[in-house]
Amino acid sequence: MAETYARRLEEPASLSETSVHEVEPMTNLPKNYGTGPGPITADGCAVDYYATLTPNGEPERIHGAIPPGASILELGAGTGRITHRLVELDHEVVAVDQSPEMLAHIVGVETVCSSIETLQLGRRFDLVLLMSFVIETADDQQRGAFLATCRRHVSDGGSVVLQRHPPEWYDAIEPIERRLDDGRTFRLRDLSRPAPDLLAATTEYTIGDRRWTHFFISKRLDDEQLEAALARADLVLAEFIDGDREWVRAIPRPL
Ligand SMILES: C[S@@+](CC[C@H](N)C(=O)[O-])C[C@H]1O[C@@H](n2cnc3c(N)ncnc32)[C@H](O)[C@@H]1O
Repeated sequence: MAETYARRLEEPASLSETSVHEVEPMTNLPKNYGTGPGPITADGCAVDYYATLTPNGEPERIHGAIPPGASILELGAGTGRITHRLVELDHEVVAVDQSPEMLAHIVGVETVCSSIETLQLGRRFDLVLLMSFVIETADDQQRGAFLATCRRHVSDGGSVVLQRHPPEWYDAIEPIERRLDDGRTFRLRDLSRPAPDLLAATTEYTIGDRRWTHFFISKRLDDEQLEAALARADLVLAEFIDGDREWVRAIPRPL
């Protein structure tokens, strides 16, 4: 199987490690964090690891859901895994991330180093894209800020596309251990459910003798919670793209 973006869920750190880590004051939950060689982003992603990943059909799915040539604001773009292919598909993309080390991998595209929450470009786009399950932050206030940024930057008649895990995934997910054909390994371990809608886990990736871990906490967004969060940002759920309840298209609330 070609190397793909391994979901955060397919590879975590351990809850026991979190006891020695900083506690998020707003939510009283441990913060996401990562370990391993090279730069690690504030939310725990390993830049050198993400730089090796390739798209897995996501750009084509996004492209198919928007008009040809639509302008795109990509929030949390990372190393440009999706960005570069969207450009090949004839979209003008502005890529935003808070990690300069991630953005350094993006070439030939306008990049903006900023937190998503505080972004104020003063421009609007046909599509605002927030994928990679970033919307599932356990911090409701942060989720609200993410969606407010989406709303601020989407044009009238434009769309916001989000990627979330379908709600039932939170009940079904179990530890994973995989060895890929090229010798890489991926583990999802130390799963716990600190509250009914929360999942804490650690992903662990290896490539040769390099090993990274990523501890994260995610919050389930069922359809009702999703619609309520969108409404607070003056957005409405338009559809699940391709009938898949993972990819969500929202639009500005009609006047
Ligand atoms: C899991 S990576 C995914 C990157 C890319 N979307 C992909 O699919 O390959 C998440 C990215 O979002 C960025 N990110 C997470 N939270 C952020 C925030 N609050 N503001 C800006 N960037 C953020 C991280 O720095 C990281 O590069």
